[in-house]
Amino acid sequence: MAVRHDEATEQGPGRKLTIRFTLNGSICEATVPPETTLLQLLRDRLNLTGTKCGCEIGECGACTVILDGRAVASCLVLAGQVDGLHVQTVEGLAGKPAPTAEELHPLQKAFLDRDAVACGFCTPGMLMSAKALLDENPEPSRDEIRRAISGNLCRCTGYIPIVEAIERAASEINRQSACHEHDEREA
Ligand code: FES
Ligand code: FES
Repeated sequence: MAVRHDEATEQGPGRKLTIRFTLNGSICEATVPPETTLLQLLRDRLNLTGTKCGCEIGECGACTVILDGRAVASCLVLAGQVDGLHVQTVEGLAGKPAPTAEELHPLQKAFLDRDAVACGFCTPGMLMSAKALLDENPEPSRDEIRRAISGNLCRCTGYIPIVEAIERAASEINRQSACHEHDEREA
């Protein structure tokens, strides 16, 4: 990772790092103090407040984002560590800003349909953990789903609707991709 140091402020308390990374498909550059976490960068500097701040010690999962394909707690990642990498947040899940209900990601639709959202505080982190799982394993078992969201705490739902929503989304994604392959063969 080639983090560039701001030469004017490399020494002393005002030292800063300039990082460049891909955020939800677009190149993003930011200059931050080295102690800035990815969570702080996203919420406080880039105004992407979909990623929630719960414990800030890696225990609640509310701040989960996808970093180069892996679900990570963004409160435990320094902004400087994402230089050159790909970050996806819940704002990038639907693939476009301000999506309509129809344009939501199948995971988001399934969470709504299955009443897997109550207060909603855990939801962005749950969605990102689930997305990382389904990207790697399109047909997860119930146990694999439970394991994938084991770092995400929910105080409201009892987890069952969340697990069922992820199962439903997996089926829908697989159905869509089968239709897509069929259409391509027919074309
Ligand atoms: S805020 Fe990061 S795990 Fe709780
Ligand atoms: S819906 Fe409230 S914490 Fe999960």
